[in-house]
Amino acid sequence: MDGNIIELNNVTYQYPSGAMALNGVDLKLPRGKKIALLGANGAGKSTLLLLLNGILKPSIGLLKYQGCNYRYKKKDLKDLRRKVGLLFQDSDHQLIAPTVYEEISFGLCNLYDDKALVRSKVEESIHDFCLERIRNKSPHQLSAGQKKRVCLASIIAMQPELLVCDEPSSNLDHKHTEITFKILNKLQGKGKTILISTHDVNRAYAWADVVVLMKEGEILITGAPNEVFSNKSLMEKAGIKQPILVEASQALWPDIDQTEFPKDITAFKKLLNQVSCADLS
Ligand SMILES: Nc1ncnc2c1ncn2[C@@H]1O[C@H](COP(=O)(O)OP(=O)(O)OP(=O)(O)O)[C@@H](O)[C@H]1O
Ligand SMILES: [Mg+2]
Repeated sequence: MDGNIIELNNVTYQYPSGAMALNGVDLKLPRGKKIALLGANGAGKSTLLLLLNGILKPSIGLLKYQGCNYRYKKKDLKDLRRKVGLLFQDSDHQLIAPTVYEEISFGLCNLYDDKALVRSKVEESIHDFCLERIRNKSPHQLSAGQKKRVCLASIIAMQPELLVCDEPSSNLDHKHTEITFKILNKLQGKGKTILISTHDVNRAYAWADVVVLMKEGEILITGAPNEVFSNKSLMEKAGIKQPILVEASQALWPDIDQTEFPKDITAFKKLLNQVSCADLS
């Protein structure tokens, strides 16, 4: 099924303290895509993500899931949270069980009555996220990166239709960042939609199908990574650095078309060679 999985129509959110975190946000998230949300500290990313599975309710405006308005009734919210999995920015807000094993099985037990099925899904998740050595530990005694992996494992085990991750690779080392993105890609390969917030522009550029750029509670632009990241003035306005490959390409070849930006270092080297050969001939 094509179309948008979630829509925000003119959404404003003000915290009880009075802080205006979102201001008239219109956003459509295309189903089955990898989407990266970027913005400086305080831009409103986490607030937007908390609205998506109904933890926060807009002060003004509407959210729609698969074309239907969100209804903030207990039963509807329970149903919504099965479909929209949310990884919190701060793992301590997520972890509730006494052991890693129980943390991962908690959500699954709410979804399935079949105990053997739950056990096999927990084992699969423990394996995928390399949690074997800490499976019986208390989540609160883990390092920040280990906590993040446990949270990710418990949400991804439930295979939500829309997976929303608030800074999934913060605190993760290189190896576990790679593992995490492989798992996110596998999930997207099964038709799920993945939305992440991140400060890693290079990763977002290489990974995302769609990029959303925020500033002070508003959306500046939504578009393909090449389109968004090549817009230097908008990036500066948002307080975000351009990805290194985009910056280098624009510096070396000011007339380069945005569709030709290399996505990785191999493509960059190839382009460099092609241009040098053309210069020599
Ligand atoms: N619990 C809260 N109570 C009051 N104001 C809040 C709360 N959480 C966030 N805010 C305010 O809302 C605005 C948006 O914050 P938010 O956490 O959504 O930003 P963010 O883009 O996720 O930033 P970061 O990159 O630091 O995670 C900020 O001005 C912030 O001070
Ligand atoms: Mg945040």
